[in-house]
Amino acid sequence: MSVRMEVRFYSALMLSLPFCSIAVSPLSHADTQTRPETANSQAAMLTPTPALPYPVADPQLGEKLYPNEALYAQQIGVELEKLIRKRDAQGQAHRDVHPKAHGCVKAQFRVLDQLPAQFSQGMFKPGQNYPAWIRFSNGSPKPDHADIKRDARGMAIKVMNVPGQKLLEDESQASTQDFILINHPVFFANEPDRYLALMKDMNGGFLKKLQIPFSLGFKGSKIAFQTSRSRIGNPLQARYWSMVPYQLGTGASRNAVKYSVRPCTARQDAIPAHPDHNYLRGALKQSLNAGDVCMEFLVQPHTSTALSVEDSMTEWKESDAPFYKVATLTIPQQTFDTPAQNQMCENLSFSPWHALPEHRPLGAANRMRKVIYDHISRVRHQMNAVPRQEPES
Ligand code: HEM
Repeated sequence: MSVRMEVRFYSALMLSLPFCSIAVSPLSHADTQTRPETANSQAAMLTPTPALPYPVADPQLGEKLYPNEALYAQQIGVELEKLIRKRDAQGQAHRDVHPKAHGCVKAQFRVLDQLPAQFSQGMFKPGQNYPAWIRFSNGSPKPDHADIKRDARGMAIKVMNVPGQKLLEDESQASTQDFILINHPVFFANEPDRYLALMKDMNGGFLKKLQIPFSLGFKGSKIAFQTSRSRIGNPLQARYWSMVPYQLGTGASRNAVKYSVRPCTARQDAIPAHPDHNYLRGALKQSLNAGDVCMEFLVQPHTSTALSVEDSMTEWKESDAPFYKVATLTIPQQTFDTPAQNQMCENLSFSPWHALPEHRPLGAANRMRKVIYDHISRVRHQMNAVPRQEPES
């Protein structure tokens, strides 16, 4: 890349990244006013979180801990807490990223009737049908981000009625198994120290924010740029990836896999010429007023040691590791946009560690997510004074 192209790339990155646009423009309502010390203010910071044991690495599956990884995870949690307490000092506390939901919809997760033994693991029991919630979101940390702005798009699936003890020690009896996906195949950071540097840049002053591309490095900046560039016509018509790997099965035959969800049909709604602020919620409503929607749930088994479990910045190419369908997601015709359901949606907590041991999260990003998601979910529930609990229906 020539110097001129590189400068152009970094300028575009600063203007387009969701976390950079929050960085270079003032926070929507947090930075500009003096406010009293409320329960949400920095004075009340650092929600005590029960110390969950940090995951151990599974070298057989290619996992390797980074030096001081658990400490980095804890520090990232602190930085994210600062971000929320500043951004949401007045009013409702949101998720630090993906705060804007297009809706939470009811779904059925139906495992295929026939599955090869290698896939027939954990909750993937042939013919089994589970109720589920799906939360569709924008990635930007701005809760009021206009849908037409380029962004990453999230799909978080919470499958219910899944029997068996789960991995999160303090929610081991929950009946939920979560799958969390974004509409891009790779994640922008491998190293915990880079992720922490990014969070510190985001929480810092203007000059700190200019350092973001340097903290992320060239490859990380490029992936973050690409991830946050999408415009979609309808959240039900995008393809989503887990980005990071998960275990499938237990014992000697366990393997690493990644997940993906794609629509059953090629239909693509046009992006409206005069989009309203929340047109993706509108598109979701229109589709689910009209009838049922079908999506496919896929797994991508790890096929060779050349595909890294720790390097989430490098895609497992489908030509090297094909995806296989294991289940159908049916999102039935429904009305979802009600105040009660939207409130329930806000209060849900997704975590890759809401999982059976057969679907254990793998790799550094996933290991850190165990303690960080738990911490941030506690922070926002505490700020909103609402109970945290896994849904049963
Ligand atoms: C070290 C890496 C990561 C960190 C620190 C991180 C942090 C977080 C946090 C704190 C939340 C909000 C949790 C809550 O308030 O309940 C969140 C939500 C989310 N994250 Fe991550 N994340 C990471 C990696 C990933 C990856 C690899 C994906 C890829 C799929 C992802 C996708 C999402 C999505 C879709 C949501 C919204 C879930 C919902 O709808 O509630 N994150 N992330």
